Amino acid sequence: MSELKRVALKEIFKGGLIDCDATVKGWVRSVRKSKKFSFITISDGSCQDNLQIIADETISNYEEVSTMLTGTCVAIRGKLVSSGGRQAVEMQGMEVEVLGSSDSTYPIQKKGATLEFLRDIAHLRPRTNLFGAVFRIRHALSMAVHEFFNDRGYFYLHSPIITAQDGEGAGEMFKVSTFNPNDIPRDDKGEIDYTKDYFGKQTGLTVTGQLEGECYAMGLGSVYTFGPTFRAENSNTTRHLSEFWMIEPEIAFADLEEVADVARDFVKYLIGYALDNCKDELEFLTKWNKDNSGLIDTLEHVRSSDFIKITYTEAIEILNASGQKFEFPTEWGAELQTEHEKYLTDVHYKLPVIVTDYPSTCKAFYMKQNEDGKTVRAMDVLVPGVGEIIGGSQREESYDKICARMDDLGMEKEDYWWYLDLRKYGSAPHGGFGLGFERMLMYVTGMSNVRDVIPFPRTPNNAEF
Ligand code: 4AD
Ligand code: MG
Repeated sequence: MSELKRVALKEIFKGGLIDCDATVKGWVRSVRKSKKFSFITISDGSCQDNLQIIADETISNYEEVSTMLTGTCVAIRGKLVSSGGRQAVEMQGMEVEVLGSSDSTYPIQKKGATLEFLRDIAHLRPRTNLFGAVFRIRHALSMAVHEFFNDRGYFYLHSPIITAQDGEGAGEMFKVSTFNPNDIPRDDKGEIDYTKDYFGKQTGLTVTGQLEGECYAMGLGSVYTFGPTFRAENSNTTRHLSEFWMIEPEIAFADLEEVADVARDFVKYLIGYALDNCKDELEFLTKWNKDNSGLIDTLEHVRSSDFIKITYTEAIEILNASGQKFEFPTEWGAELQTEHEKYLTDVHYKLPVIVTDYPSTCKAFYMKQNEDGKTVRAMDVLVPGVGEIIGGSQREESYDKICARMDDLGMEKEDYWWYLDLRKYGSAPHGGFGLGFERMLMYVTGMSNVRDVIPFPRTPNNAEF
């Protein structure tokens, strides 16, 4: 093929590239053959739109070109011309080179493949319009996360992935070890001797970067993490992953009100960023699924609304006054279950809701204890359709109080000596939260299964690819 630099379809559809020669490269979506010419549609992943190329029988390898199968990879040189069709531009093909052929076993044939089916071919699903849209949005929102915090003076912290602390105290850590499973060293009492393991102690994959984030907030002021997080919880739901990405800001001198304000501003910023930068993708997603037809309107509405803010106690009162039958109990002290969260966000308010001041028994050891001795300065952000997307709190800064709580919970304080040091040396009020990136993506894209917004989902019994 005569040498012309490859032009991404995105550049072509931006406009301006008309009546000029160009080379495009991508994957064939379809070929419609007629006697004298064929219509080829290709995508290259750079944008939502596909390009149509008209190849007529005068091109040298017309027989090969007109019988190309879906999935074939091609390089095409031709002339870009304005078109009366769905796209403003199309190409008159002059040269077509097959870079990689495909065959009739290519699993992504015409429309109609189910999401379940596409999950089984997660290595090929990025070639669909749907997954192109979702993963371009995922990229855009990753950039937005860094912009939001950078603009506000936060420092990006790389918290460790291997750690010895169960930061949420929920016993959901994957173990990291180099022991030979068939020959694990034991001590005199028959217990596993972790001093002989790789790190000389028991370690696992992090469930949160928060504890390390707190150390750096106590030195740099405001920090955030954005990295993979692991939970070995056996929850086979549409909202839980064993490996997910979390963004965790930690802010020195912040109280719960400030933490909640940052959380609200952050969620609204990400929504606005998607609306401003991923219009084609959101329009595609809106049309793709009937249930999603209100997606853009909802996002616009949320971008310009304040969030509702209620205490846990008020939430319980609302649930009990609702006249609704819930499967799980709604007396004071009970966990807010998905059905309860859904009632608050989808039925009662139809807006994101921030719930604060949960019973201490529902929450982790590090949260600041309220004067009432029963509740903690916790905050969850719940959104319609998805439920909890953020969990956060003001942290307990009193050495004595946090020690007492850890004792109550039977935690080994020695293991957290460095975390407790923060309360010993120059302790300060501080707080932060964690946003589940995939949960946020579900909300923005309207996808209803968390497995469809992460490239290669890890869930119980599934670590293919
Ligand atoms: O509520 P969580 O457990 O809070 C923490 O980890 C705190 N250390 C955060 C902090 O204050 N720095 O998790 C935070 C968020 C949840 O609201 C949810 O969006 C997401 O992480 N999340 C999950 N997302 C996908 N799969 C899972 N298994 C998740 N578990 C939590
Ligand atoms: Mg939570």
